[in-house]
Amino acid sequence: MAQNKNDTLLILGAGGQIGTELRVALSHQFGADRVISTDIHPLPESAGRSVVLNALDGAAISELVRKEKVTQIYHLVATLSATAEKAPLPSWDLNMKTFFNVVEAAKQHRVQKIFWPSSIAVFGPTTPRDHTPQQTILEPTTVYGISKVAGELWSQYAAKAWNLDIRSLRYPGLISHTAPPGGGTTDYAVDIFHQAKKTGTYTSFLSADTRLPMMFMEDAIRATLLLMNAPAEDIKHRTSYNISSIDFTPAELATAIQKHLPHFSISYAPDFRQAIADSWPNSIDDSAARADWGWEPRFSLKSMVQEMIDHV
Ligand code: SER
Repeated sequence: MAQNKNDTLLILGAGGQIGTELRVALSHQFGADRVISTDIHPLPESAGRSVVLNALDGAAISELVRKEKVTQIYHLVATLSATAEKAPLPSWDLNMKTFFNVVEAAKQHRVQKIFWPSSIAVFGPTTPRDHTPQQTILEPTTVYGISKVAGELWSQYAAKAWNLDIRSLRYPGLISHTAPPGGGTTDYAVDIFHQAKKTGTYTSFLSADTRLPMMFMEDAIRATLLLMNAPAEDIKHRTSYNISSIDFTPAELATAIQKHLPHFSISYAPDFRQAIADSWPNSIDDSAARADWGWEPRFSLKSMVQEMIDHV
């Protein structure tokens, strides 16, 4: 693995759904003393070295990067799709300002690598829906999606113009039992497990047959480490990589849960998030990630459901 004992890693948004698991994985790889976790809210002691930081404060990021001689930044701060639709301009502001704060700090202090997540939200109703290709039409209809397309293009620009090594993944809906998701359209696929075990019923905010690409968090973290450990010359796409593992509908997920909890029942009350889901793909073609840096998912619908039932 490409790693240097002088690496110091900075995570922004380390208290979120991805950050909570990524900080553990990075501490494991680099050593807990090499990882600085930051979040706008104080992190638990178990997070190791941590700092309260508002990612809108560019000077504070820059100062931390300088002081700690940071070599890698993992920038996970964002307002997700559903929340962003309720406050479009502040969400755009947060998603883009924090992105540029990180780019600026990286430029100033010669940070070696940056990770910034993109999303299936970059796609829109004019994108091919099945096995969506790596390079395709990007006309998202959500503020979150627009901010991710903008960030992808800026990443590509920054790589070329400023020689910044920014790497990115278009995460599908992420499913985990450690930390809750933060206001996305795919959150139902996590909530459903909590409600299934607590009450035995769930009302889905997406209709029965809404198919979306999804991934168990363990696969998403492994993809992130694989991408970040790959030699720079293997990174052929400087926008963001498609990655894929499973796709299912709420009805199919309910059936898979019923194999463990036979009395579980689901009902449907689609809300504004249905339109967002309807604009996103059914499934993703990740052949570029497989070819360029050896990506391969491990979890199936069945093994993901087993993990969730066991740990929620
Ligand atoms: N899970 C995210 C969302 O629904 C997609 O990136 O917003």
